[in-house]
Amino acid sequence: MNETLRVDIGHLLNDGDTVNFISSPVFESFYKKYSSSFNEIRLSLENKTSPITRSFLTDSSLLTIKAVAETLRGKYENILLLGIGGSTLGFRAITQALKGPFYNLEALSCGWPRVFVLDNVDPILAKHLGDLLDFKKTALIYISKSGSTPEPAANFIYFYKKYREAGGYVKDIVIICDPGDNGINHIAKKIGCHILHIPSNLPGRYTVLSQVGFLPLELIGINSKDLLDGATRMHNAILNTPPHKNAVFILGTCLLELASRGKSIHVLFNYGNSLSEFGLWFVQLWAESLGKSKSITGTVINAGTTPLTALGATDQHSLLQLFKEGPNDKVFGFITIDNFPSDVMLTDEFPHEVEYSYFAGHTMGEQLKIEQISTEMSLVRAKRPCYRIVLPDISAFTLGALFYFMESLIIFVAKLWQINPFDQPGVEEGKNMTYSLMGRKDYTSTRLQYEAELASFNAKRRIFQL
Ligand code: PA5
Repeated sequence: MNETLRVDIGHLLNDGDTVNFISSPVFESFYKKYSSSFNEIRLSLENKTSPITRSFLTDSSLLTIKAVAETLRGKYENILLLGIGGSTLGFRAITQALKGPFYNLEALSCGWPRVFVLDNVDPILAKHLGDLLDFKKTALIYISKSGSTPEPAANFIYFYKKYREAGGYVKDIVIICDPGDNGINHIAKKIGCHILHIPSNLPGRYTVLSQVGFLPLELIGINSKDLLDGATRMHNAILNTPPHKNAVFILGTCLLELASRGKSIHVLFNYGNSLSEFGLWFVQLWAESLGKSKSITGTVINAGTTPLTALGATDQHSLLQLFKEGPNDKVFGFITIDNFPSDVMLTDEFPHEVEYSYFAGHTMGEQLKIEQISTEMSLVRAKRPCYRIVLPDISAFTLGALFYFMESLIIFVAKLWQINPFDQPGVEEGKNMTYSLMGRKDYTSTRLQYEAELASFNAKRRIFQL
């Protein structure tokens, strides 16, 4: 039986420092206080009423994804993926973890296409990439759950034109979106390209284990079934483990308790580069799901803690100074990997130099693990609460389990906070202003209002030029 992950919360607890850590009696009280909320979450997973369970695609959906991937496989040297937020962060995280940052250098020789992800609206990037890519050799994938998010829509308009003009095969374009009645569904039908529909009510940031992550991953040789198997194993483990032994319950309650004591920043310190993009996925999921002004009953509570991602060992030479000696307002999570897929031995090249000879006989993987534990110990000595998630290895199976674990953890914390983890009202207002100010026809009623507001907003700027 494949192992998924282990969670260690020992250094969130300390009976001697009950300001910065959780004491045993408080920890023991969580079971009574929160297990019924946890059981409600568990029931929603068991009954598959929780949106995250919509990740468990039917066999026919998986077959459709694989069939579309099959039609493109071997035909293209590049993939251009357009999307933003939840539409790209999961794919980026998995590609980084399983293929590494130098993937594009080896892709073609391994028989896979290179990957270019454009997840910002940036004229410099768009122009540069548009000039570099040969669109006859590029598969174009456009992902937008809502089908109307302005940033990927602008990129799609720009690159669709380039693609068409360069003689790209329009029928090979893949559009992944909600099945609802939206503009991009109309366009997809009109141009006759591939359409894959994301399960309705699966919010964008929870779509990594769906068509959104799976289609581009299949194109670079990552089996979506392995990711789903890992998620399924985690799903079953959450269902079958009682709260007092369940890592989702234990970590979730501890994080809530520490947040209520002013640990308002949640740092995820990932060791090492395989997990750097996972950190970005986590930041989005935590921030958008938990940062809410109102509870589900409408009370203003301004819930949430600020997520931050750090990369070990690199950020030991950047953020760590602040983490250890700056405000004690943070909780630290470390993610480490037990068995690296490959390791390198360090040799005795300079035996007479004391600063170099001690490396002999150690591997780089060993060094990274020692640096992680040293950083964690040093933070705990400075009275900073730390927890650790250990992955047995870095594989599609383990990642599937990790994604599902984090999603479950976040929806459980949201339950404790009594907030809705699936909406993002704070993002919508800026989006609506953009639509209005850009002149979208169905937003004309708010255009005058926002233009007037903008004029008075700009009038209040106090500008000092040097
Ligand atoms: O979770 C969310 O809904 C967001 O982060 C979306 O993923 C992001 O805004 C992109 O939206 P869409 O996929 O609708 O273009």
